[in-house]
Amino acid sequence: MKKHIFTLAFLLGVVCTAHSKPKQISNSKAISPDLIGVFFEDINYAADGGLYAELIQNRSFEYNPTDHSGWGSFTAWEYITQGYGYGALSVETTSPVHPNNPHYAVLKIEEAGQEGIGLKNSGFDGISVKAGQKYDFSVFIAQPDGSSMPIQVKLVNKKGETLGEATFTTNSKDWKKYTATITVAQSQDSASLVLLAKAKGKIAIDMVSLFPQNTFKNRVNGLRADLAQTIADLKPKFMRFPGGCLVHGDGLGNMYRWKNTIGPVEQRVAQKNIWNYHQTAGLGYFEYFQFCEDMGAKPLPVVPAAVSCQNSGGTWRIGGTGQKGIQLTEMPEYIQEVLDLIEWANGPVTSTWGAKRAAAGHPKPFHLEYVGIGNEDKITPEFKERFKLIYDVVKAKHPEITVIGTVGPAPEGEDFEQGWKFANKENVPMVDEHYYMKPEWFLANQKRYDAYDRSKSKVYLGEYASWGNSLFNAIAEAAYMTSLERNGDVVRLSSYAPLLAKAGHTQWNPDMIYFNNSTIYLTANYYVQQLFSTNEGDVYHSNVVTPAINKADTALAFSCVRNSKTGDVIIKLVNSAKVEKAFKVNLSQFKGIGTKATVSILTGEADAKNSFETPDKVKPVTSDFKAARNFTYTVQPMSLTVISVKAKK
Ligand code: AHR
Repeated sequence: MKKHIFTLAFLLGVVCTAHSKPKQISNSKAISPDLIGVFFEDINYAADGGLYAELIQNRSFEYNPTDHSGWGSFTAWEYITQGYGYGALSVETTSPVHPNNPHYAVLKIEEAGQEGIGLKNSGFDGISVKAGQKYDFSVFIAQPDGSSMPIQVKLVNKKGETLGEATFTTNSKDWKKYTATITVAQSQDSASLVLLAKAKGKIAIDMVSLFPQNTFKNRVNGLRADLAQTIADLKPKFMRFPGGCLVHGDGLGNMYRWKNTIGPVEQRVAQKNIWNYHQTAGLGYFEYFQFCEDMGAKPLPVVPAAVSCQNSGGTWRIGGTGQKGIQLTEMPEYIQEVLDLIEWANGPVTSTWGAKRAAAGHPKPFHLEYVGIGNEDKITPEFKERFKLIYDVVKAKHPEITVIGTVGPAPEGEDFEQGWKFANKENVPMVDEHYYMKPEWFLANQKRYDAYDRSKSKVYLGEYASWGNSLFNAIAEAAYMTSLERNGDVVRLSSYAPLLAKAGHTQWNPDMIYFNNSTIYLTANYYVQQLFSTNEGDVYHSNVVTPAINKADTALAFSCVRNSKTGDVIIKLVNSAKVEKAFKVNLSQFKGIGTKATVSILTGEADAKNSFETPDKVKPVTSDFKAARNFTYTVQPMSLTVISVKAKK
């Protein structure tokens, strides 16, 4: 275990407010302005079928049984003949749209009948469409005999009634992209998309796609607007992606390789998702970086440390064949891939990879500051050797990038200790800690970071959650988050995990945001994250709040931060007891604030939870509040209270 030296942290900071000249205030210190972010991983159908707004499942016929037992090229598809037509359907690979996307459907129409024959896609548990909204349809079709084919595409309800349609005629022997807009007449949660060929002949079909025009920020190949908005509403300071275990993958061949996820979607490499489904890579690195920018969050990509998951072939953290490393002879190429990512994100348009970013529509750099290397890897000699090879080159070539190392999947234990020892030896600037624990653990461990050695690696608490979505779980997390703020000089970044979960496709519970195709509900844990992230400060003050009766009351936690941009002073009071408690607040040290304040309170029964049926059972309520230089504030049982005292304008 690394030795934590007791900190003199409260004596460290120089404080400056927007309303007064920089000034030394005792018992205060500068803390991370990026403390609270989000961690996005494609788990629980978070990407395909979730945040990624594509409505067609298995659009490129690439599903196969390694993704999920029983899956194949026609999963989510149905062959349909209507009006007495007949023909044949097959999957082929001889002349694909692109070698990265090998499978496509071939439809032979022997007799078109009255309505044509074709394919029907049921989306991800049905396609949810809204009356009056427009949907962008696209498909790649080739017609080897060179003739033309009239095509009808329509959205239909369960009874087969048309909700909206479009028609076009193909005119190319070679693969060509056809597009159409479908306006929907009637809202429907379980529509299907039907593509019908209306004449005798043969066509090859690939990349059948349907997007709502209303994506987040109206981006093409964009994100589901309502889900993306709930994430943006957290005002995250950064977003880590694409995982999690997804990063190091189920065997070396399944590692997440960022270059496979950029460029035209029909040229990206789809692959098995380690969480037992399929990744189209339609939500790829460009879309992740763009989403970060659209939210005002810093991008935090995590690349594999050139080793696969130690549990490859097993289930999460259990069994498996053990970690495998990329051959050392292949490491120079792999290291170049990491350097290319930095160039792709930050390089000028004249650079090789900066030019690719520009070609995708983003000539300006993405301002990448952080790169994670590895995720919860077993700290073996193979891991250390590969990590060091990557890290040394990135450090030398890009001293402006903060590299984040990894220290295993738990708050203690062998990988944690070995990971820290290694990070300290190599002077890795920051390490990624992960832990999922009982709420009682979070309440009992609030002093964890008080004792961390400030001269060693900083901490990114990259994954944490208490096991549950009840208010008590969320309050335990809130108490812990006051300790993250108090230690915001050493804990620089933190993110709850996992972020998203689709009902019926959940590999992991609890999660922060639950959704189905049309509805979202936010958990108590979400509201705690939001109350902290929208009330962040960059200076911590230790001598403002005290419990009114018993200073050592373990049911209470609190923090006070100041936002030096706005001048606002923000107090967070947490009570995990089932009775009211009181705090004393002394604001007399602050210049430039008045009495105008708001108070937000999250409270309820300890076991209260939100659900699709009762989405608002646990929700914060905000009202105006009149602060004073000194006041006593009584907090409700099982509550988080955030008082934001406004700076004088
Ligand atoms: O957040 C879910 C999983 O938990 C992540 O993929 C992994 O890093 C951790 O074990």
